[in-house]
Amino acid sequence: MCGIVGYIGDKLAQPILLNCLSKLEYRGYDSCGIAMLSNGIEVYKDAVRVEALRKTLPQIKGTTGIGHTRWATHGKPSKLNAHPHLDCNGNIAVVHNGIINNFQQLKRQLISEGHNFVSETDTEVMPHLIEKYYDGNLEKAVEAALRDIEGSYAIIVLAANEPKLVVARKDCPLIIGIGDRGNFGASDVPAILDYTNRVIYLEDGDIGVVTKDSIKIRRDGAEVDRKEHKILWSIKDDQKAGYEHFMLKEIHEQPKVIRDTLGEYTREAEPVADLAVMRDSGIESMLMLACGSSYHVAMIGKYIVEELLGIPVRAELASEFGYFNQTLAKTRAIAITQSGETADTIKAIKRLKEVRCKVLAITNVVGSTASRIADQTIYTRAGPEISVAATKSFIAQLMALYWLAMSYSRIDSRRLTDLILELRHLPTKVQQVLDNEDKLMENATFLSGYENVFFIGRGINFPVALEGALKLKEVAYIHSEGYAAGELKHGPFALLGSNTPVIAIVAHDNTYEAMLTNIKEVRARGSPVMALAEEGDEAIEDLADSVVTVPEVDPMFSPVVNTVALQLLAYYTAKKRDCPIDFPRNLAKSVTVE
Ligand code: F6R
Repeated sequence: MCGIVGYIGDKLAQPILLNCLSKLEYRGYDSCGIAMLSNGIEVYKDAVRVEALRKTLPQIKGTTGIGHTRWATHGKPSKLNAHPHLDCNGNIAVVHNGIINNFQQLKRQLISEGHNFVSETDTEVMPHLIEKYYDGNLEKAVEAALRDIEGSYAIIVLAANEPKLVVARKDCPLIIGIGDRGNFGASDVPAILDYTNRVIYLEDGDIGVVTKDSIKIRRDGAEVDRKEHKILWSIKDDQKAGYEHFMLKEIHEQPKVIRDTLGEYTREAEPVADLAVMRDSGIESMLMLACGSSYHVAMIGKYIVEELLGIPVRAELASEFGYFNQTLAKTRAIAITQSGETADTIKAIKRLKEVRCKVLAITNVVGSTASRIADQTIYTRAGPEISVAATKSFIAQLMALYWLAMSYSRIDSRRLTDLILELRHLPTKVQQVLDNEDKLMENATFLSGYENVFFIGRGINFPVALEGALKLKEVAYIHSEGYAAGELKHGPFALLGSNTPVIAIVAHDNTYEAMLTNIKEVRARGSPVMALAEEGDEAIEDLADSVVTVPEVDPMFSPVVNTVALQLLAYYTAKKRDCPIDFPRNLAKSVTVE
């Protein structure tokens, strides 16, 4: 998704802005640009990567500027559609993340008033509106322009004759970074982490005026105080540390992520959560909401919570939530979102709040929108996830759910003690999966020659099949489908044959026998089968064409080891196919539009 940044200070802004933009690349983009306050406003932009833009730039002297990475929504990626956008006279420059819903109507009006437009974007109405209201006070003009706008925005605005940045947000994340000799505006923390770890999160409706040594935030005309947060992520976290890709680095960080996340929650021998939102003993059901990989975590969470708490759980796509009537009395909702900014998940949380359903957010980003609007938040300790494909955040979210479910568990204490013990061994088990990388590489080489793949699983590993398929399609560009193993014969069998390998996730639980039967059925249709099975499973050796083993764990934790194995499989398949692994085409890390 689009990323924005602004800097005002004592240092040269150009290298700072370009560096910040390179840190925003992980969000996914197709164009980029900067506007600098120098002799008036100078804009450089194009439908290119940040590095390519850097090479074409002259040395610009100014110490104030704004920058943007664009993920096209209105109009194709092109130089004209790239941000920053200008008003008619080139005196006002805007970078914007979000969508202006009424832009066509505003554009028609502005054209009739004599404004000239050069792009197809919705954003371009913004500088023209600001120009319309500008009488020497940028903040007032921005405020007036925003009154006309319907939609979502995080903006940073620059005017030729005012040494300040004006920032504003509604339904899109925006932070102010407090630097040493200057200040920042940015869409997220990694953008400015090289310069500062002191940030202020703006609220919807806030308008801020940032100069090199002052920050003023107003809302509805009155000054407001917003808390400063200290970010604990270190600069090292957003570097590759010798790995070829962030995705591989992040996969390898998972033993530590499990330790850090659990360490945060379970200081004593028992995972005892005391969460206000969970304290009501009358809770009869749970609703888990999320998108993409986080939704797969929610699906696994359904099995975990149903088994440990004995209450029914619905896992739903946040993007589909709200389109039908819900009965939510005595329900607790859990919203799962790595970024804490996914528009669909945020909208679902807001809708739940409207009907007074209490929401617990599980997120990786301190101060994110989800954490601010939910009733309570559990933070995962995955650190910044740079690769677009979710890996370590997935496992960290699972840890949060295990801990939560164990804390409120209604199972007998012996079984609970066993599970807690196993939980503590998970980092070692995951490390064993990582140590088996060569075997996964071999299978990746085999898989890389195919264009269609099925992943099958049952029970708690059905969502793992969905996640394995999602990872393979997004990073290796192979059409892959995750299926409940028993469902293949209800249609997809028509697609099986020697050109369609099937990856079977075989857990040692009550689904085992049925899974073996499903594998036999698949083999009988000529599809090559790769099985992911527990060490020591001899029966599977005779059934599958290839077997990758994972360490023995309690079936409840099998999604952890199996998912890590499938992440590696997707990674090495993508590598074999020479795909741009960390930044897959058309994808964005933080999906801030519906
Ligand atoms: C897939 C992936 C996405 C995200 C989804 C939700 O690898 O990363 O499917 O899981 O966009 O994002 P969050 O968790 O930030 O709400």
